[in-house]
Formats: sequence, structure tokens, C-alpha cells
Amino acid sequence: MFILNTKGTTYCFEITKSGHLEHLYYGKKIHPDAAALREKDYVAPGNTITYDSSIKEMTLEYKRLEFSSYGKGDIREPFIEVINPDGSLTSDFLFKDAVISKGKPDLEILPSSYDEKGDTEHLCVILKDEGYNLTLELHYYVFEDCDVITRNARFINDSKETVILKRLLSTQLDFISDKLSFTTFNGAWANEMNKNTATVNGGKIINSSNIGASSNRSNPFVMIHAVDAAEDYGKCYGINLIYSGNHYECFERTSHSLYRFVSGINPCGFSFEITPGSDFVSPESVMTFSDKGFNGMSLNMHEFVREHIVRGNWKKKERPVLLNSWEACYFDLNEKKMLKLAKEAKDVGAELFVMDDGWFGNRDDDTKALGDWDENLKKLPGGLSGLGRKIKALGLDFGIWVEPEMVNTCSSLYYLHPDWTLEIPSHKHSEGRNQRVLDLSKSEVCDFIIEKMSSVFSSAEISYVKWDMNRIFSDAYSQGFDKNRQQEIPHRYMLGLYRVMKTLTERFPDILFEGCASGGNRFDLGILCYFPQIWASDNTDASCRAAIQTGYSYGYPQSTISAHVSNCPNHQTLRNTSIETRFNIAAFGILGYELNLCDISDAEKEAIAAQIAVYKANRALLQFGHFYRGAINENEFEWTVADADSNRAVGLKFIRLKRANDGLKYYHARGLLENARYHFTNRVTPINVKIFGDLVNSIAPVHVKQGSIMHDVVSRIVKFSTEKDDGYFYGDMLMEAGYLMKQDFVGTGFTEGMRVFTDFGSAMYFIEREDV
Ligand code: GLA
Repeated sequence: MFILNTKGTTYCFEITKSGHLEHLYYGKKIHPDAAALREKDYVAPGNTITYDSSIKEMTLEYKRLEFSSYGKGDIREPFIEVINPDGSLTSDFLFKDAVISKGKPDLEILPSSYDEKGDTEHLCVILKDEGYNLTLELHYYVFEDCDVITRNARFINDSKETVILKRLLSTQLDFISDKLSFTTFNGAWANEMNKNTATVNGGKIINSSNIGASSNRSNPFVMIHAVDAAEDYGKCYGINLIYSGNHYECFERTSHSLYRFVSGINPCGFSFEITPGSDFVSPESVMTFSDKGFNGMSLNMHEFVREHIVRGNWKKKERPVLLNSWEACYFDLNEKKMLKLAKEAKDVGAELFVMDDGWFGNRDDDTKALGDWDENLKKLPGGLSGLGRKIKALGLDFGIWVEPEMVNTCSSLYYLHPDWTLEIPSHKHSEGRNQRVLDLSKSEVCDFIIEKMSSVFSSAEISYVKWDMNRIFSDAYSQGFDKNRQQEIPHRYMLGLYRVMKTLTERFPDILFEGCASGGNRFDLGILCYFPQIWASDNTDASCRAAIQTGYSYGYPQSTISAHVSNCPNHQTLRNTSIETRFNIAAFGILGYELNLCDISDAEKEAIAAQIAVYKANRALLQFGHFYRGAINENEFEWTVADADSNRAVGLKFIRLKRANDGLKYYHARGLLENARYHFTNRVTPINVKIFGDLVNSIAPVHVKQGSIMHDVVSRIVKFSTEKDDGYFYGDMLMEAGYLMKQDFVGTGFTEGMRVFTDFGSAMYFIEREDV
């Protein structure tokens, strides 16, 4: 029996008489015994296949297996599919050997987890299909401290003939259970990470991407859990894939309460030719388990991502508060405008100024110039270096936007290299955002990107790069590549991209890279192995963001989720939310601002300056603390970030739509010590009297007409603040019973001190241990 133990979990399997790997258990830590855990069969039932007539009871269809190959009687989702030299699709990989070692090696051509301390234990199980002389290695890595086990596989062609790999997945988990739910995170552009839960009674649910990126349609992070699991209780498995391309997660239930989960590269549109002596390595899959609900699971995942995925100089460094030019002026930028904006950014306390799209070639809109990465000297007479120097002189760091994987047909690059794009020669191409995908399966294209970006990044004092990718694949055909092997291209593209990202991040270790793909179209662990943070969504509306960031939080820590305060009416929804709510929600990620600071009121600028000061004072906690979801439903959100020692926490309560006389509202903290006393306060912010509309006349000595000059004057003179909360309470009470918020405005009188939540109202709480 192979037993893989972490701090709180056990994973085990054994070798059957036939040489297969029978999965025995994955869950809370136990003292496993195969005699109890293994299946005790005597005959192959009904019309199932008996694997070997000398082992009458052995039917693969009813076994929980560590992996399954195609064609020998296991009719469920296979882990591996090979077209053998004789055309047969049947494989039979049986146990040969196993090796245990220490340390976490890199996968080299693929991004992978790492372990600086070298504590990770590595199990490699070697299996052989003797009939065709093919080898399969299953690799397991045990990250004891964060209750994570990762897996991947390597296929080696030891034969003398070429074979075709039709699928090689990364993990397989078989369960026996009466009922399990499967949760996936699906969406679209500006509408990422909607949580969808289904109870699978029969058949399959597939979560997959075939768009060339991990996609905003179906994130590769999924959960399998007890039907009644909730944020704080119930068994929950979280599974993710360290890959940014086409992926596949399938959850299947067959008869006899047998569930199978598989995950890996999407077999749809995939195959790979494996010549004699060569191999294929599948991406690493990450698995964790907790019996403490979704929060327990995500705490493990967050720790793993922070410690074993994100790397480099920015891994633990507090990330700067930035101002991004995109929603401030879109393509209409020039040096003068940038400097004006930057000056305002400096005044409110931002630390980094980012010039987004529009600075290069003749890029005045999205129809042209992608690929021509030389600065537009009409817009930036001093070039990137001149502007960078001036920004630095203002006391800000300087960052830029690039989209290196793409080209507009209206560009010099396309003119010079029309064969460098993914497209089918002499066929009409389907366009996306007026641009085409460069063919990163070609090494000369990757070399070009590496050299061009290296010269851009070293042409000025650049501290930050937003790396965008704004279209999905169509007509994905590599010009000049073997016409029979085009199904290799999406994966070869990823290998090229990873080489480019690895080389550039190693060449520029001090640059803070932020991934982006029209927002969250490539928010995954593959990208996070190179870039420590990702622009989570092009949707900056606070109400939408509350849901989007909640969705991400199940699988990804807040240090990876970039979130900006933008202007209102919001550019994606035309919704108005208060500047404070916009901040309160963005503050639970990597905070930035993305609005024209030159056009907003002084009161809003003051509010922003105060927000940035609060964020900086709590930044380490907000960016790297333990994140918990409290009570969450369509209308209410509760988040808490607590430090590892439970000395400090920051909380959020956000209520989308206000209902009149809606009764009592609580905020429940998380992550505190039950027996410690905490100082509990909230962030008190000014309220503009205008939110009361013409109700102001019930207290004003003279009549004030709404929208009049008098109304403006009154709003400047009459100063209100939000409610004030201040008390000393025990952690157990704040977590179990919660803090009962002050009465909300109900329309039958207003007394200062009451809570005034309009639609999209929110409160931020600070919780500090008394005796520390
Ligand atoms: C994408 C990004 C935006 C912005 C634009 C620029 O949509 O997600 O944040 O950078 O590109 O073209």
C-alpha cells in the first residue's frame, strides 16, 4: 500500500493482484488498512468484462483506480488514450516499480509548483504496457504543511514505432459515495467566476475550455464536496491545474455509487505524436481536502498558491497602489495627460503609475498597431524613457501595458511576417477584437517576443508590466507545420508562451508582472507561476466585483487578485455605487485606481487619499492575510481577512439592495481566537447630505431645491458621518454570534449615529487583539 500523509489528510492506494493501482482512500487523516479499505469481490457481475480469466472477480469497471486506460473493461472516463502502432486503442499499463525521493523538481517545459525547503516527498510509480513497450509514470508530490498533494504523469515511448497520444490527463480521483456535489466557476467577459453547484446522480458534468486559454467561461479550479457542505463545515476537495491552455475537468457517476473525477489537458482537439524514445509530460494537478467546509479548503489552497506557486522577488513583497490610465482616457493618451494624471495620483498617495494600451505605433484604437512595440513619438515625444523619467521624478514608479502574443493585420509586424500567426492559409479568418494570435508554437516567434519585450522593458525605468491577451483562438492552424499534427498546436503554443514568460521574468526579476486576458480569461496557476498577480475582470463595478472576487477566493488568495476603484456611473454597468463601497471591495485584493483623477471632485480626491492611507496601514494583512467568506448570498457579502496569529483582522459587510425596515443585520468575523478580547471599530467616512434628497427640507430652516446652488452649499456645510462602532469583545462572540450592526435608516426619522446604507452600502471593520 502507498500512503501519502499530509498534516491533516491521507491518500492511499495499493497494487492489485492484476498489477493495477486500486485507489483506497482520500480524505481526513486516518490509520489506513487495505484489508478494510479494498474492495472484496468474488465474481465479475453481469455483463461486465473480466479483466483476466485467472482472476474471476476482477472487473475494472467496478474498481476505484489511480488511473484508467482505455479498452480493458473500464468504461468510465480514461486517464490515458493511445493509438498504438497497429491502430489499436487499447492500453494495459501495469505496475512495474515505485521510487520515493525528496524535493520538488521543476517540470522544466511546463510551469510547476516548487518547494524552497526541499521537504516535499515525491512518489513515482512506474507502469508498463508490455504489449506495446510503452511506459507511464505517475508522479505524486506531498506538501505536508498545507494539506496539498499534487500529481502529474509522464508517458514514454520505449518502442521502436511512433504512437499517437490522444489524451494524457493529470489527475484521477475515484470515490464511493452516496451523493457528492461538483462546483465549477463559470462566466464570460466581465462576468467571471460565477459559482455553479450540481449534484451528480448519473452521467457526467464537464467543465472545460477549448479557446486556447484557461478561460473566463470555465476556470480550471473546481470543488467536489458533500451536498450539505457550506463555508464553515462539511467535507470539501479543491482541485486545480497548473496550466493556462485548453483544460478538461469531468465529474462522472456510474452505478454502485462510484464517482470519478479527472482533470488535465482537454482531449478535445488534442493529440500528440510521440516518436520512439521521446516522452510527453502532463501538467501538474493540485488537490486539497478539508472537513472544515469551503473556507477550510480555500485556506489550504491559498497557502499553497502563496508558498509554492507564486515566486520571485514579489512573492511576499507588498504590492504598490497603482493608478491605471485605461478607464481614465482609453486610447487617447499623450505625455501631457499622463503626467497630469500621475501628479494627481501622487497627491492621493498612489505609488505606481501605469500607462495602459495606446502608447505604441499608431495605436489610436483596437484595429491597428499590435505587434509594433515602438513608442509613438507624437504622443510621447520623449519616448518611454522620457515619460518614465518624469514619472519617477514625481516620486512614482512607472509601468506599461503590453500584449505581446497578438498582432493586428494592420501593423508592420504582420506585413513582414504574415506566416507568424495562427491562421489557415487561403481560408477566411474569423477575427476577435480585430487581432490575430501570434503562433507561439514557432520558436522564432517566441524569440522575437523575448527580444522585442526585453528591449521595451529595458528602454525605460519600468517597474511594472501588465501583460494582456485579448482574443481567444479560432482557425488555430500553424502555417508550415505538419498538416497531420495540427492538434498539437494549442499545447505547443502554451509551451512557447511558458518559455517566453520564464525567460522574461528571469531577465527582469524586479519588474512586477500582472497577467491579464480581457480581465480574467487566463486566471490560473500556470500564469501565477510567472506573474504574481492577475487583473481579475474588466468589470470594475463594485457590486459585480463583490461576486467575482468571492468566486476567485475559493481557489486563489487575494494577493493574486488585482482590483481597481473606477469612476461612476461605472463603465461596464452604468451603475452608481459610493466611492467608499468601491474601495471597501477593491481593498480585499491588490488595490488600484483606474479613473480620471483630474475630473473628480475634491471631496472624492480626499476620500481616495484617506482610502489609500487606510490600505497602506493594513496592506500586509489585506494582501497576505487568511481570507474567509462569511454569510454570502445574492444580496449580502461578508469577508474577513485575519493575520496568521489572529491578532488583527479586517472585515467587510456589503449589502447590495436596500430594503426598507429590513430588520437586524450582523457582521460575523472569522479567523479570531475564541478566548481573546478584541478592539472592534469601523471605518467612519463622511456622508454627503445629498443622499437624503429633498428630505433635507425636514431639517433645513430654508427650502432647499434639489440640484440648486443652495443644495451644493448645504452639502458642503452640513457634515455627516457614517455610524461609529467601537467596543471590546471576545473573539468567540464576534465569530459565533456576530456583531449586531446599528439600526439602518428606515424613513421614519434620522438620528445621527444611525447606519445609512443606500443600495450597495458597505462597512469596513477593524479588529485588533487587546493584549498584543
Ligand atoms: C483589455 C484589458 C483592459 C485594457 C484593454 C486595453 O481589455 O483587460 O484592462 O488593458 O485590454 O486594450
